[in-house]
Amino acid sequence: MKKRAGITAMGFYFPRYYVSIRELLIARGEDPARASEGLGVQRMALLANNEDSITMAANAIESLEFPKEKVGKLVFATECGLDAAKDNASYVHELCGLPNNCEAYDVKAACAASTYALWQVIDWILSGRGRNKLGLVICSDIAVYEYKTGAEITGGGGAIALLIGEDPEIIDFDLAIGDYKNNVKDFWKPLGKECAVVAEDGKPSIKSYLDALKPSFKNYIENGGQKKFDYLVFHTPYAKMVIKAFKELSKFLPEIQGKFDTMTADSLKAPALVGNIYNGSLYLALASLLELKGTSAKGKSIGFYSFGSGSSSKFFRGIVNPEFESSFGLFEQLDRMEKIKPKHYEQLRRGERTLKETKGFLLNGIDDQGYRQYHKE
Ligand code: CAA
Repeated sequence: MKKRAGITAMGFYFPRYYVSIRELLIARGEDPARASEGLGVQRMALLANNEDSITMAANAIESLEFPKEKVGKLVFATECGLDAAKDNASYVHELCGLPNNCEAYDVKAACAASTYALWQVIDWILSGRGRNKLGLVICSDIAVYEYKTGAEITGGGGAIALLIGEDPEIIDFDLAIGDYKNNVKDFWKPLGKECAVVAEDGKPSIKSYLDALKPSFKNYIENGGQKKFDYLVFHTPYAKMVIKAFKELSKFLPEIQGKFDTMTADSLKAPALVGNIYNGSLYLALASLLELKGTSAKGKSIGFYSFGSGSSSKFFRGIVNPEFESSFGLFEQLDRMEKIKPKHYEQLRRGERTLKETKGFLLNGIDDQGYRQYHKE
């Protein structure tokens, strides 16, 4: 029998606070339709000052129940690495009490690093080198753009932990993958900068996302990928980008034409409530789709388009476990987030106010040698 590996559980962490984009645009005297009809964004999650990509990752792992002693590999995907030498994974490995006989490291490929990480872990299991152990893929990012730019309201933040194992309880992946890599000057984040640089107000980034779709899909087919999809999920920086991508894909996959509402629309609901979470955004789209389709998703095939600026992309397919029953409680978790007023958001961005988190893993501070200190409340 074919050896299988895939997603066996998913854990989430979203910051406590958010600002309503509609309220923010109204308070600024701008047209809120730019958010609702134009971009398809509703809320922007905001990290507290004592949170970072490491605390979010550790909190996402802690939201899962699994035998920690069985974890043999942890791969941390982020564009919010906090040190040029020390990986985020080392801190998280300690905070979550993972075993010492466990590989743990970071990978970087903008928003596609999570997918590279996923396939590294799957390949490790399928090769037999995993020796029946579990793998963890952590996606944790903060998307902050320059204040009052076009990109600003597509910001967000959050972390997703994917537990990867044999006989996966959620998604089993086919082994055909389409790859496309192309060096593009679209979007980058120089070391030490909190905000990404978006070339020419984002137009090249939209173009490179769409340009990579056809060659990734073509390579997927060349590598034996099947064309049958019940659902399609895409990297989701904001909903409008996915609507454009679906339209682009339908040019060379005509059988999906007119099926956006049944195949993809549900994947956009959760991402619209937190904003872009970079590496986690494709997997948040997946969770949103599964949560809303419920038991009707059992046994269904899902096409995945992963895109990272710069650029890296992959097209692949997975099958939902025919016995998939669980609900992630995703929307309940998103409902618990607390709204802050637009004027408080403006103060935060101007450095006149701070936000504090009081629960979970928290950043205590950074010592005078640049070493980070954490604790759990
Ligand atoms: N009512 C209705 N619609 C409106 C509107 C209004 N009042 N105002 C604007 N719109 C529409 C526009 O017509 C436009 O529609 P189309 O895309 O169909 O033409 C849409 O809203 C967006 O227009 P904006 O003027 O708001 O946006 P923009 O084009 O200036 O900027 C952006 C959008 C380029 C994505 C910018 O938000 C950005 O730079 N974001 C960061 C980069 C990014 O997310 N790129 C996406 C691809 S790369 C990627 O996916 C990797 C990643 O995660 C970053």
